Amino acid sequence: MKVTVVGAGNVGATCAQIVAEKNIVQKVVLLDIKEGISEGKSLDLWQTAPINEYDTRLVGSTNDYAKTADSEVVVITSGIPRKPGMSRDDLISINAGIVKSVTENIVKYSPKAKIIIVSNPLDVMTYAAYVTAKKPKTEVMGMAGILDTARYRAFLAEALDCSPRDIQALLMGGHGDTMVPLPRYTTVSGIPVTELIDAERLNAIVERTKTGGGELVNLMGTSAWYAPGSAAAQMVEAIIMDQKRIFPCCVKLEGEYGLNNMFVGAPVKLGKNGVEQIIEVKLNEAELELLHKSANSVKAIMDVLDGMNIL
Ligand code: LAC
Repeated sequence: MKVTVVGAGNVGATCAQIVAEKNIVQKVVLLDIKEGISEGKSLDLWQTAPINEYDTRLVGSTNDYAKTADSEVVVITSGIPRKPGMSRDDLISINAGIVKSVTENIVKYSPKAKIIIVSNPLDVMTYAAYVTAKKPKTEVMGMAGILDTARYRAFLAEALDCSPRDIQALLMGGHGDTMVPLPRYTTVSGIPVTELIDAERLNAIVERTKTGGGELVNLMGTSAWYAPGSAAAQMVEAIIMDQKRIFPCCVKLEGEYGLNNMFVGAPVKLGKNGVEQIIEVKLNEAELELLHKSANSVKAIMDVLDGMNIL
């Protein structure tokens, strides 16, 4: 089995590395437009195989999509990242053109691939890929919820001085400052988090989570890659291994949560067929209002993109 990662920048290379280290596929193809970069990074990564003990071959490709043919899963990370002061939405026109052309090439060589979008603005780029790919909505999805819940879980683990592995959480909505962490659906080994932390501290963590990506952009001058690359690799694993794992992912909603033709994060089941189920949990009025507010902010950017006639 083969997995392709498009974009050999920090996020793409990290994703390729982690997928390879999981030792779940025969080959990972890393593709980039910049001459030599994907070949160099995949050669460097392949030379970690004897040390880190995996068999997955890593192959680089400078824009030659023939090498990606018959991929089971394709992760698209291409596009420019944020700089300090930029929102993810500021990237829209450049990244939409890139995502469109990458998606066309991917579908040409791997018509059956499940496509995972990582490029920003995430939800709108997932929409762009979906429209371009002309594939079922179960096969085109965006990576954001795993990353955002990972940030939320990491902050909670620090505050509670417990293992991040024991924190289970749900977060919905767009991958922007309007995202909706859901404390009512957050537990520590089954214990409602609200029993372990006071409302004020929990609220501070929710707020920090919402701007978690921006916090890193401010620290590093560019956007994050370890957690985004790891999160995309976890989605790849769930699909390749048919794990039926339940994660928040960006998907096309058609009536769920009262949202139609919207691309936002919701809990889904990931298996060999891609998004095998969209799970509708009960939200209270306040939660639903936040989710709709978040979806509307994604919709506004979708409308801007539609007006650009790029797709
Ligand atoms: C982040 C970027 C990758 O949230 O969207 O770090």
